[in-house]
Amino acid sequence: MAPHSLLDGHDDGPVTNGYTVDAGRDANTANGQQHNNGHVQSQSHLRKTPSEDEHDLVCVGFGPASLAIAVAIHDMIDNGSFQKLGSGSPPKVLFLEKQPRFAWHAGMLLPGAKMQISFIKDMASLRDPTSSFTFLNYLHKNGRLVEFTNLNTFLPARVEYEDYLRWCAGFFSDVVQYSTEVVSVSPAKASDPTAPVSGFTVTSKDVKTGALTVHRAKNVLLAIGGQPSIPKSLPSGHPRVIHSSQYAHLVPEILKERDSPYRVAVIGAGQSAAEIFNNIQTLYPNSRTSLIMRSEFMKPSDDSPFVNSIFNPSFVDSLYQKSATHRRALLEGVRSTNYGVVRLELIERLYETMYDQRRELGSDDRKWPHRILSATDVVGFENKSDKILLTVRPLDCASTSTAKEDETLEVDLIVAATGYKRQSHLTMMEDVAGLLPEAGEPNGTPSSNGFKTKDPEAKIKDRVVRVSRDYSVQFTPGKVSPGSGIWLQGCCEETHGLSDTLLSILAVRSGEIVNSIFGGNLQNGKA
Ligand SMILES: Cc1cc2nc3c(=O)[nH]c(=O)nc-3n(C[C@H](O)[C@H](O)[C@H](O)COP(=O)(O)OP(=O)(O)OC[C@H]3O[C@@H](n4cnc5c(N)ncnc54)[C@H](O)[C@@H]3O)c2cc1C
Ligand SMILES: NC(=O)c1ccc[n+]([C@@H]2O[C@H](COP(=O)([O-])OP(=O)(O)OC[C@H]3O[C@@H](n4cnc5c(N)ncnc54)[C@H](OP(=O)(O)O)[C@@H]3O)[C@@H](O)[C@H]2O)c1
Repeated sequence: MAPHSLLDGHDDGPVTNGYTVDAGRDANTANGQQHNNGHVQSQSHLRKTPSEDEHDLVCVGFGPASLAIAVAIHDMIDNGSFQKLGSGSPPKVLFLEKQPRFAWHAGMLLPGAKMQISFIKDMASLRDPTSSFTFLNYLHKNGRLVEFTNLNTFLPARVEYEDYLRWCAGFFSDVVQYSTEVVSVSPAKASDPTAPVSGFTVTSKDVKTGALTVHRAKNVLLAIGGQPSIPKSLPSGHPRVIHSSQYAHLVPEILKERDSPYRVAVIGAGQSAAEIFNNIQTLYPNSRTSLIMRSEFMKPSDDSPFVNSIFNPSFVDSLYQKSATHRRALLEGVRSTNYGVVRLELIERLYETMYDQRRELGSDDRKWPHRILSATDVVGFENKSDKILLTVRPLDCASTSTAKEDETLEVDLIVAATGYKRQSHLTMMEDVAGLLPEAGEPNGTPSSNGFKTKDPEAKIKDRVVRVSRDYSVQFTPGKVSPGSGIWLQGCCEETHGLSDTLLSILAVRSGEIVNSIFGGNLQNGKA
């Protein structure tokens, strides 16, 4: 088992979700296909393109961001606006996804976990509430609309929302290649090397066989999400050090006996860490768990309505226009809407667990089965025969903490719920470096109060990766023909705001991107 792959051996079968799906008014049931489960699966308006043809658009990754693009194209064909954009025939689109089937952060699909966002921010509603791909239509088609209404909530269970996303994805199975990992995006070779590039080649690897395939595309959209981030103090690839994204898949394989007194350390203070810390205690009633976090307190996510307007589609416009310094300060101020924060109900539940231990076992938390080590950092890892020793050290603002105060925890498993990086697109795009502008001056000064910012501007081989408001990568003028381009999703937080990595604006953003790619508005090289 490869320790750090996301769906290790967890191929749950075909892409369909086992339901008979029919998107409604626009589902082209005449083109229905027989799937493995015996049901008739309806198709979208997108059709498979012969692999040797040049595609109008190849999307890398088929998570919610790309799924929203598929839905937007379908809806725009359906309501005629695509034709008005000047495209007579349906576009030739292909989605390449490395997982064996559609799955949305499946390693974190924990019982009881709720969505962090209103279902109205689904794949379509905020762009077109009459679309067949709304969450409400999904409920309707699955016979649960009235019963869901009685739940009196805007926040479905994550497991239900994933089912909704999979239901949507099922309509596009003709145009998605699963188990296909993209390794690079390069400029297409032209007969005249001085002419502007008019397309790209996307090289993918069959995850099962390793065979490479090259796809040709006028436009490429990279929507590959985040990559697990593991603290440097921990070894990568160790079978008993896993990332939160692998939790639900690997924990039952690593900790096989429900009643064993396993010792588990969870690192982090975000939603993933809190959910895992809570879940381990339920899964293994005799476990001893430690939550190790750098922050002093577990803090609630701010979802108050004024602050929440940073997740409005219109906020992207207002943020994009601001200076880099202003943007950074603004993002820093609203970090607690998303990062290193936990839903209040879960904080209250964990507090009650701590309180109960205090009442039953006294105030020395070293005697408690479940501990929260706050203001503490991980400083050492040692693997002695079958023992894992994790050394932690209190953080002290007065910098008086020394190795004397270190505590060594003997554990059976470490779960790093330490968030995600968003850098892989730069490696994937290395071959297009020559089309990018030369690096200029850094775009703003680093923050003085510790907010974690990356380099002011992302770079590939000293060339700057700048992204326009419409999410297209800016190339040196004259290097790429109008009508061709590369588009980025999920790695533009610093210019387009916190909603960039989330579901918040996917419905609207996908409509904007489809308009930009197919509407002829794109001028490559424009600022
Ligand atoms: C546990 C969890 C719960 C969350 N809950 C919420 C929530 O309630 N609300 C919210 O707004 N946000 C939530 N988020 C944030 C999350 O980022 C978004 O919900 C959403 O997943 C973003 O979609 P995406 O398509 O940009 O990225 P992803 O969902 O990460 O999808 C990217 C896809 O690209 C694929 N891929 C990656 N590399 C390659 C490659 N080289 N070749 C081919 N395919 C590749 C991946 O396998 C994946 O399927 C949650 C995140 C986590 C981790
Ligand atoms: N039910 C749900 O819907 C659900 C569940 C889980 C996650 N999510 C979403 O998924 C996204 C990511 O959440 P997340 O909790 O996985 O990540 P996160 O919010 O980025 O939190 C990462 C945590 O890890 C800590 N950390 C990072 N590097 C560290 C290091 N080297 N050493 C020690 N600690 C370190 C951070 O601490 P510092 O702050 O000190 O850096 C932070 O507390 C968010 O959008 C969240 O809302 C949603």
